[in-house]
Amino acid sequence: MLEKSKTYEKSAPRVYIRTFGCQMNVRDSEFVAGILIDNGFTMVKSADSADVILFNSCSVRKHAEERVFGNIGQLKHLKRKRPELVIGLIGCTAQAYKEKAIERSPLIDIVCGTGDEAGLPRLIKDLLKHRRRIVAVDKIGRPKPELFPKFRDGKIKATVSIGEGCDNFCSYCIVPYVRGRERSRDAKNIIKEVKSLAGRGFKEILLLGQNVNSYRAGRGKDFIAILEDLNKIKGIERIRFMTSHPKDAHAELFKAMRGLDKVCEHLHLPIQSGSDRILKLMNRGYTSGKYLKLVEDYRRIVPGGSITTDIIVGFPTESERDFKKTCALLEKVGFDSAYTFKYSPRPPAKSSVLEDDVSSGVKEERLRSVMELQRKISAGRSEKVVGTLVEVLVEGPGRKPGDLAGRTRSNKNVSFEGKKGLIGKTVRVEIVSAEPYALKGRLA
Ligand code: SAH
Ligand code: SF4
Ligand code: F3S
Repeated sequence: MLEKSKTYEKSAPRVYIRTFGCQMNVRDSEFVAGILIDNGFTMVKSADSADVILFNSCSVRKHAEERVFGNIGQLKHLKRKRPELVIGLIGCTAQAYKEKAIERSPLIDIVCGTGDEAGLPRLIKDLLKHRRRIVAVDKIGRPKPELFPKFRDGKIKATVSIGEGCDNFCSYCIVPYVRGRERSRDAKNIIKEVKSLAGRGFKEILLLGQNVNSYRAGRGKDFIAILEDLNKIKGIERIRFMTSHPKDAHAELFKAMRGLDKVCEHLHLPIQSGSDRILKLMNRGYTSGKYLKLVEDYRRIVPGGSITTDIIVGFPTESERDFKKTCALLEKVGFDSAYTFKYSPRPPAKSSVLEDDVSSGVKEERLRSVMELQRKISAGRSEKVVGTLVEVLVEGPGRKPGDLAGRTRSNKNVSFEGKKGLIGKTVRVEIVSAEPYALKGRLA
């Protein structure tokens, strides 16, 4: 039992959400904030002024879990000062740990899994009233209720989930276990949401799914049909999507990217490893040869398009030879950027039974070396844009006073001098200099 406090019954409880993990989690936090606001809660921007602190957590690597529990632990003093403070763990780690989360961190009052988040307004109200700990983790794998909360973090770009969960069971990955089976959202709800965002002035939409290419719902519509429908919505200027799985991506998707004017020329296509032996152990369902063929199709069909990827180093049994193959593939493709990770065993994911036999020193060294290589490749890719004219959607002020910042259609960061009035507008910019991950330009 927690201590009682009378203060909540009168005023709107103030909630602070801290988010870890991927874009899905960022979107989920926004959704949770939206339904809490719609149910009379107030969102605040710091833990100090909050009555309720929610940690939306990620379990994709052990380090991510440790960070969230570490952060919760740091609230010990605040909780001692204010025993009525509610601390909640939501999202993927909540789903993975269930009631064990409280054993690991007794400061936690509420554990809410990935399928139960729509119930949070009621769960938190119950908790504030009865002061009894809550564990709600049973609804994993259910479709999220179509609540359409109005709250959004930004004004220009918005993310829209087109489905949840994953059926791919890559051997290293915990996502299918914490997000449940793949389910596609009904096309009419996606279209309704994007139309409403367009009506409110949003210009760019990022469609989210663990594997967008396997989207299928609402009168047999596939992902390309969704892109075609969304491309017609007035007011929306840019459409992006992630993540594409190489086993399901194909030339038809690239043709849609070329043919649909709002769909931006950026493909995030995680390769994970350049070694076929490792790819097989990872249960990825493609070879490096098939991947390279896809890249060739993409480059031919979408000229000037960018391509980014994810890499894991130090998967069990990865030899120096396997790792060299990854490096060679990186060079061959010439990715615009790559997210690189050290392998982390994630039970119950299948690979966790394999001995984690690449030492942490070797993982560290491979990570450093692959990042260095990618930095050079990215620098080369950025250099190529210098002297060209690009279209930039201005997203806000830049780091330097007087600067604006935005992205190209290929998703590269650009900063340039300009008036604040241009925020939200699409402008033409001449690129004058480049760093590996940022471009500088001037208004054309
Ligand atoms: N559905 C997406 C995102 C998965 S999670 C996809 O398939 O790409 C994002 C990235 O985290 C993965 O692409 C992978 O590179 C990395 N990752 C997942 N599990 C991991 C693990 N156990 N250890 C290290 N990196 C991991
Ligand atoms: Fe994980 Fe693979 Fe699914 Fe991506 S596709 S979420 S890496 S199981
Ligand atoms: Fe995303 Fe991490 Fe969950 S990567 S799906 S928040 S385990």
